[in-house]
Amino acid sequence: MPSHDPRRIVIFSGSGVSAESGLPTFRDSGGLWRQYAWEEVASPEGWRKHPGVVQAFYNERRHQAAEAQPNAAHRAIAELEKSFDVVVVTQNVDDLHERAGSTKVVHVHGELAFARGEHSGLRQRVGAAPIHMGQRCAQGSQLRPDIVWFGESVRHLEEARAYFSEAGRVLVVGTSLSVFPAASLVHAAPAAADKVVVAPELDSPPAGFDWMRGKATECVPQVVARWLREGAGASQGQPE
Ligand code: APR
Repeated sequence: MPSHDPRRIVIFSGSGVSAESGLPTFRDSGGLWRQYAWEEVASPEGWRKHPGVVQAFYNERRHQAAEAQPNAAHRAIAELEKSFDVVVVTQNVDDLHERAGSTKVVHVHGELAFARGEHSGLRQRVGAAPIHMGQRCAQGSQLRPDIVWFGESVRHLEEARAYFSEAGRVLVVGTSLSVFPAASLVHAAPAAADKVVVAPELDSPPAGFDWMRGKATECVPQVVARWLREGAGASQGQPE
């Protein structure tokens, strides 16, 4: 049994896949970490120091994400499911993949649509609604965004790594691959898999990946069309 299964596709996405839906990235010009200090709004220290500021930061992002619409890249990724077994591993906290129709989405950095008790860890869905100070979970713990902040443990990492290790095709889109351990997932992809990375800029494209230099809505539909044309037969990746 080859290590990779041509019917299995892993998509690994970052904020760049939602950029053309109007949601900000982090490190591009105009990105969130150019406007805010992540230590203040995306860390346990920031939460301890000024929880109201952190709530407001995520309430605004949750509102923006709810207003945004999936774009042609999200839709093309969802279309792959008609011919392949697809898992979307995303660093994004918006739900645009789900709203485009992807049915298996693994959020390694949490989700805006959920809150959790700061001490209980009890999760509850909030959808697009803001979370306020004084709002508590069923066990009386203050509700906080269900987001993985810097210094907190990334979610579903081993599950995600397993998906990469069995993939026959891997598409990385819209991530600078600069935040670990999530970025290390790309190294779990089999050498023989067909591996493509889509971004207009990349400091260091991952080894073994074909770099399509461009925007998600231009490049992702092209990769998807090629994979759908090839069908779930043997991937056209590098020989074993
Ligand atoms: N189409 C495709 N890629 C794009 C587009 C676009 N229209 N616009 C920007 N990009 C690319 C940029 O070139 C960059 O490579 O998206 C990437 C965005 O990188 P970052 O801003 O670093 O975002 P991301 O990689 O998702 O950050 C990872 O960092 O702060 C944490 O938790 C946060 O999940 C986030 C993680």
